[in-house]
Amino acid sequence: MSASVSTHAPARTAAPTAAELLAFALRTAADPDVVDSLPLDPEGRTWIRLDGPGGSEAWLIGWPPGTGTGWHDHAESRGAFATARGRLTEHSLTVRLPSEGWRNLELAPDVDRTRSLGAGTGRAFGEHHVHEVLNPSDSEHAISVHAYYPPLPLIRRYSRSGAVLRLEQVERPADWQ
Ligand SMILES: [Fe+2]
Repeated sequence: MSASVSTHAPARTAAPTAAELLAFALRTAADPDVVDSLPLDPEGRTWIRLDGPGGSEAWLIGWPPGTGTGWHDHAESRGAFATARGRLTEHSLTVRLPSEGWRNLELAPDVDRTRSLGAGTGRAFGEHHVHEVLNPSDSEHAISVHAYYPPLPLIRRYSRSGAVLRLEQVERPADWQ
């Protein structure tokens, strides 16, 4: 019998946790060489792809004043984002919604949350996180770092009218890469 049974940990190939994605987003948002490499356009959002940790999908995004994503989710991906410049507002839902089988869904009155994330702050989220992110400023550009794992298989886009969420569109990677 061999006595050379390995007891050390295997090479790290584990999928990144949401906390690790957040650590990456915060670290990258604090790196001026990366943040300053993003071209900014006063007319619309700009983005460049980054190498996320552990095979994750990561993006650096520029937000002119008043721009936002609209309501969407990230399907079965977890993720995180951090603000590098300016300030972003996130509106989110505290509940995970069924990913299929509905087109209109009436939300309960207590599921909305709002966060305001200034430079150097961020947040992680789990699967089926539904949110919208926007730059509420009327004068200042915002820049942020986002990471998702697994890489986004799809994004579901919703419209919102009061308490009613309506599925409008399903985007695939070919739509944003
Ligand atoms: Fe998102």
